Amino acid sequence: LRHLLTLEGLPRRTLEQLLDRAQALRDEAYSGVSLRGRLAGHTVCNLFFEPSTRTRSSFQLAAARMGADVLNFDAASASTKKGETDLDTLKTLRAMGVDAFVIRHAHDGAVAALAEKSGGASLINAGDGRSAHPTQGLLDMLTLRQRKGDDFGSLRVLMVGDILHSRVARSDLHAMRTLGVGEIRVCGPGNLLPDDEVLAGCERVASLDEALAGVDAVFMLRLQRERMVEGLVASLDDYFRDYGLTPARLRRAAHGAIVLHPGPMNRGVEIDDAVADGAQAVILDQVANGVAVRMAVLEAVLEPEPQATTAFGPWCR
Ligand code: CP
Repeated sequence: LRHLLTLEGLPRRTLEQLLDRAQALRDEAYSGVSLRGRLAGHTVCNLFFEPSTRTRSSFQLAAARMGADVLNFDAASASTKKGETDLDTLKTLRAMGVDAFVIRHAHDGAVAALAEKSGGASLINAGDGRSAHPTQGLLDMLTLRQRKGDDFGSLRVLMVGDILHSRVARSDLHAMRTLGVGEIRVCGPGNLLPDDEVLAGCERVASLDEALAGVDAVFMLRLQRERMVEGLVASLDDYFRDYGLTPARLRRAAHGAIVLHPGPMNRGVEIDDAVADGAQAVILDQVANGVAVRMAVLEAVLEPEPQATTAFGPWCR
């Protein structure tokens, strides 16, 4: 694995290998096995041009727990503020000996463009524009598998909210199609749902109450107001009334249904406090799995097994 840019087109076997490895690393870490030394001698740079709490912190912890040196680039106080290009920034840090860059960027395709000129370094997409957030997709699938088992074909899943602006939604949909999830429903305001290409194979359901009936997992999405043009959502109260997940609504889902949210949450906008903090929410499991998935991805990039190298194709270039 040279880079991880997207989950689109990633073979099922490769995706499952990453999930298996993340699970194994999580189990080892929880049983007290030291993972330090696995990435000793490597240097990982978190190069975030957009804000992040979960992704940046979990990559930092994943790299540190595996013994890599970690450099956290702060775009707000860096020479990018003086006009230095993203590529010159990457080349400068590469010259200091960085082996792998974890990059978040506001623009679609920005990480793939940098990967063309990475000078031998590996790049991991930590979220670019609305295009892809592959490690979030992986950690969501790991969480789903832990709670619902690996018979993905038997699962009914619902995704709710602002899919139009969501890179998380795109990576989740890519992964769920690859894993063969039985039924994928989507629900949200018409002007926040993308075109049929993005939603291929999904069933659009207008009413959230109807969409929730019998589902095994509910993927709630953040309303991404920072990416919206003015007026896409007229009223947050109306949004919550029509698309907010409340305990009463959640009772329509299957017994034991789980609720996922990538964070950060807009409480009272897309999700009620009682759901976010309730027994069916697996949101903090997602966070914990994020560290394990990022360990697995860093390892795949920096210490690839010979057989793993052949399993990763152009999706990871
Ligand atoms: N889910 C996610 O990407 O969260 P952060 O923006 O906090 O990294």
